[in-house]
Amino acid sequence: MDASASTAASTPFSTLIRTASHEQHTEAENSTFMSDMLGGRLGVDAYRRYTEQLWFVYRALESTAGSLADDPVAGPFLRPELARTTELERDLAHLGGPDWRSGLEPLPATARYAARIEECARDWPAGYVAHHYTRYLGDLSGGQIIRGTAEKTWGFARKGDGVRFYVFEAIGNPAAFKREYRELLDALPVDDLEKQRVVDECKRAFALNTAVFQDLGREFPLTA
Ligand code: HEM
Repeated sequence: MDASASTAASTPFSTLIRTASHEQHTEAENSTFMSDMLGGRLGVDAYRRYTEQLWFVYRALESTAGSLADDPVAGPFLRPELARTTELERDLAHLGGPDWRSGLEPLPATARYAARIEECARDWPAGYVAHHYTRYLGDLSGGQIIRGTAEKTWGFARKGDGVRFYVFEAIGNPAAFKREYRELLDALPVDDLEKQRVVDECKRAFALNTAVFQDLGREFPLTA
């Protein structure tokens, strides 16, 4: 076994997946759309469009979860307190009125992202875990920064309608929750080769997110 393989084997999987996606995380965080939106340079219409994309993504994650409840690999990750669809729907009703859903279509990159999640949920539970990690652990971390900025920029009530997506009412201690989540990752009952595939799928998940930001950036360009 060479040195890198032995390091990979002895490194907890939660560390491996975080480290492997670190560079793409920075890229997503610093994407033009995110920077413009969180820099206060875009209107609430951009935030609404972004939230609509999240709704398609979480619907893909959560409408498929039922079929995975008893799966030995993905099942342990499915915690009801993480579910975001209802919160997104409340935010969207606030942002777009009661008819927010009529005529709503995903951006092309969002449709590709949701389709990939659905494919994993159907055919590859460990791949679904990669998507689950990429979204929910991010929402529990950086999501809190986004919430604060959104409240300030567009005047939403603190933790109220418009930003409920970022509020995990049923998770009293996010740090402890994330610790437990990482323990689940570390105990993922798959071999090293499959773990590497999960890491690759996580990178794919980040790339799919970045592509959504690119589509959004095209729809909301800054006129210099
Ligand atoms: C402006 C946007 C973003 C900000 C400000 C942000 C910020 C953060 C911060 C501060 C953390 C905590 C790091 C730590 O505990 O060491 C974090 C973790 C994370 N973020 Fe983001 N993030 C952003 C966008 C994203 C996006 C677009 C994704 C992917 C969809 C993402 C996925 C994650 C994940 C998976 C983690 C958990 C890493 C781990 O501990 O394993 N983030 N983020």
